[in-house]
Amino acid sequence: MKRTLGTCYYPEHWPEEIWADDARRMADLGLTWVRIGEFAWSRLEPTPDDLNFDWFDRAITTLTDAGLKVVLGTPTATPPRWMLTKHPDMLAVDANGHTRKFGSRRHYCFSHDSYRSEAVRITRLLAERFGARVAAWQTDNEYGCHDTTISYSNAARDAFRDWLSHRYQSPDAMNRAWGNVFWSMEYQSFDDIDLPNLTVTEPNPAHVLDFRRFTSDQVARFNRAQVDTIRAHSDSPISHNYMGRVTEFDHFDLGRQMEIATWDSYPLGFLEDRVGASPEDQRHYARQGDPDFQAFHHDLYRAVGKAGRWWVMEQQPGPVNWAPSNPAPLPGMVRFWTWEAFAHGAECVAYFRWRQAPFAQEQYHAGLLRPDGIEAEGFAEAAQVASEIKDMAAVEQSQAPVALIFDYTAQWAWETQPQGSGCDYFQLVFETYKGLRQLGFSIDIIPPDTADLHGYKLVLVPGVITLTEAFKSALTSTQAQVILGPRTNAKTANLTIAVPLPPNIPGLDLTISRVETLRPDAPEPFSDGGYYKLWREQVQTTAEILETDAQNRPLMASTGALSYLAAWPDAAALKRILMRAAKDAGLSPIPLPKDIRIRDAGQTLFIFNHGPDPVEYNGQTLPPAGVLWT
Ligand code: GAL
Repeated sequence: MKRTLGTCYYPEHWPEEIWADDARRMADLGLTWVRIGEFAWSRLEPTPDDLNFDWFDRAITTLTDAGLKVVLGTPTATPPRWMLTKHPDMLAVDANGHTRKFGSRRHYCFSHDSYRSEAVRITRLLAERFGARVAAWQTDNEYGCHDTTISYSNAARDAFRDWLSHRYQSPDAMNRAWGNVFWSMEYQSFDDIDLPNLTVTEPNPAHVLDFRRFTSDQVARFNRAQVDTIRAHSDSPISHNYMGRVTEFDHFDLGRQMEIATWDSYPLGFLEDRVGASPEDQRHYARQGDPDFQAFHHDLYRAVGKAGRWWVMEQQPGPVNWAPSNPAPLPGMVRFWTWEAFAHGAECVAYFRWRQAPFAQEQYHAGLLRPDGIEAEGFAEAAQVASEIKDMAAVEQSQAPVALIFDYTAQWAWETQPQGSGCDYFQLVFETYKGLRQLGFSIDIIPPDTADLHGYKLVLVPGVITLTEAFKSALTSTQAQVILGPRTNAKTANLTIAVPLPPNIPGLDLTISRVETLRPDAPEPFSDGGYYKLWREQVQTTAEILETDAQNRPLMASTGALSYLAAWPDAAALKRILMRAAKDAGLSPIPLPKDIRIRDAGQTLFIFNHGPDPVEYNGQTLPPAGVLWT
């Protein structure tokens, strides 16, 4: 697969007279792909059943005549206003019981059966008419964006009761599994169960976690309905565009339904409120984005895509409009981000959007073109990449030496029962990823049900709150060095504490006898340097002690290749822990300068300078936004 570029285009926003010129300019720029359609429902079906597909047909013809390949996005993230007249109860309801209204987008509840039928209907009509002419599909747009998967509607409540009755078969079994004898929460009938919002104090965590599982299943079911419909009429690959740090549904589940995973990469948009960076780093990386956040998602979505197939479907091409502040990227960063995606195996990077819209919500969001059609700053950088990739070999994918497990259920479990403020699973995993990258490692992120860890030298399993038996045996039989914890295998699938006490890993004599959380501003020292923060477990063990606290109490212990880390380390302690594990694994860590990251893609080694200033590395000077490959 060659590396390709693309863009997101909204023909319904522009006079038809300029479509052909737009298409020609896209092709001249060296773009291969153009995504259209994902918000166009009100123009495709202005009133119920009054279809108006002819303009869309002409748009597709114009684009394909110019040599472009079309990705058709189903328009189901933006049902038109008439849909609400037809289905007044289709809107999602928030945790306070308020209906989330029409007037922006993603205004639907995944559990509303009639809306799902409408989504299937428009998908079928589009697939019937255009199935043979589009080169790829996108279902909906960014499930979960704007916190839109969890809904406390009546439709969700009824579907949840049904889901529970399938899972548990009898209210008694559910009462036992959840521990409902506590506080007299026992149910006689599934019809008595409500959604876990608006309770007096916290609801039963098992109730909440099942609601989160159910919610994720509803997203998968909604998507599956579109995928099946498209498949009946088209052989082209199907994708969905995921987002940064959206964890409300299990992306691995959806990934198994489709050929390609894509995601929407907004490095500057994410920096202030999704990365967890310090104020100093937010200033330092204000025009470049965090050095690990994009890479993390590239690696995550490579795992979500079938056989590692993934794209960036929306790449920030200039300032966006929706973050707390919206700076312009440093010159060169649009090219840099594109190359970073290619280094992690992206088949395509598509820029959002072709031309900046002078109306509605995203007026200050840059495109490759300004609203007047003149080239914006990002255009020349996209052109540079287009010329650079012209004669390059195909995308490479090779197995990394290090595997990091990411588990969506663990995220919901930590959110359900954080035990202390700041205790967030994503953050723990992301900091581990960062620590590995700062030592120069390339990483595969893999799901928690991977049965085969063959080929990895080091495997990290922080915070995966419940290990399946299959994965547990993969972990105990691999040749790799494995670091478990903190909070790994801490709970049963119903968020209860198992006896024997956790982590209960065969071959490792180690018991967590107590858990405590620390104030976010009160970390405590490891005896060998660095601090632990937020989460700390009390350990009883006969295993070899690797780390202790200032009172010489164990914080990490190992037997053979298996070790358990009983606290959340800061960057300095993590570095020591990872260096030791890497050495034991026979790997050679390369501690990197703050702003440098490297990615070994197999035959090509990429070096990136994420900083605002030139950096000397390995006898070479990398300018700001500098990328080298050898
Ligand atoms: C994405 C979304 C696009 C557009 C973009 C703006 O989240 O998919 O439709 O809104 O953000 O940055």
